[in-house]
Amino acid sequence: MAKTLVIGAAGQLGIELVLALQAQYGVDSIDVSDIRVPEDEGVMRSRFLHLDATDEGAVSKVLEEGRYEAVYHLAAMLSATGEKKPIAAWDLNMQSLLNVLEAAKEGWVKRIFWPSSIAVFGPQTPKKLVPQDALLDPTTVYGISKQAGEFWCRYYHEKYGVDVRSLRYPGLIGHRSVPGGGTTDYAVDIYYKAVGGEDYTCFLKADQALPMMYMDDAVRGTLELMAAPEERIQVRTSYNLGGMSFTPSEVANSIQQILPNFQVDYAPDERQAIAESWPESIDDSQAAEDWGWKPQVDLSEMTSIMLDAIGKKAQTPVH
Ligand code: SER
Repeated sequence: MAKTLVIGAAGQLGIELVLALQAQYGVDSIDVSDIRVPEDEGVMRSRFLHLDATDEGAVSKVLEEGRYEAVYHLAAMLSATGEKKPIAAWDLNMQSLLNVLEAAKEGWVKRIFWPSSIAVFGPQTPKKLVPQDALLDPTTVYGISKQAGEFWCRYYHEKYGVDVRSLRYPGLIGHRSVPGGGTTDYAVDIYYKAVGGEDYTCFLKADQALPMMYMDDAVRGTLELMAAPEERIQVRTSYNLGGMSFTPSEVANSIQQILPNFQVDYAPDERQAIAESWPESIDDSQAAEDWGWKPQVDLSEMTSIMLDAIGKKAQTPVH
């Protein structure tokens, strides 16, 4: 049976991607791994492998034994935490990627997915509709690791024929998992506060626009990219991926359409400088042309989905 491995299955994207892969291929076709046990019961229906992705020997053993059709390598330290622990972020983000690429070079993995990010862009990059081939100008350790990782991916593809594919995700917003340590995390936290009947203090400025995406779009785009015929994949660094662009005050307004008493105030912290270095919106026409990418969910639809789903979760007793 063709199997898929998700590394970093306990993370925000990992949980969502595992659930989608399980729905598509069946729980027995997916192995999930992380350094910590995923808290999601659905994820844990698949076989769990405890794996430190920075451990070269452990990664190569798992991949040699598993002979996976596809590996989604998602383990990483995000932008805000990375600034607090720069060397640890670099070690985790780079070493784990190289471990997976090396295993693929040995022929143990058919296809790899590895996420990049809008954090590869920086002050010299255009702010609006950043083109695919814009200057990469990262200011965070996270962004530097993503930039370097993109070129490692292309290197392994060109030099060793490794079929590695990548997307530059915007901020990802979903209700089945929570993010940790990112600059875009406010756009998830705000919905939980709103549903909980609390006010929210935002750590970014009210008018700080950033590229964002509803999680189901991100997961669908990832699966579409991975299913595309190899000859369609023209970009072997990482594809720009656009969804929507909004500011904290716009998301607050969209929540207030449904919960009129919801209040937000603003206390920007060190994450504001990171956000300011990133663009506001992304030109993803290359992804559209090469493999048919098209986002589906806009801000108002996302807000109603998020409030509804988090509201239902809050009513479900935890046992
Ligand atoms: N969501 C990420 C972060 O904020 C960006 O890729 O770090």
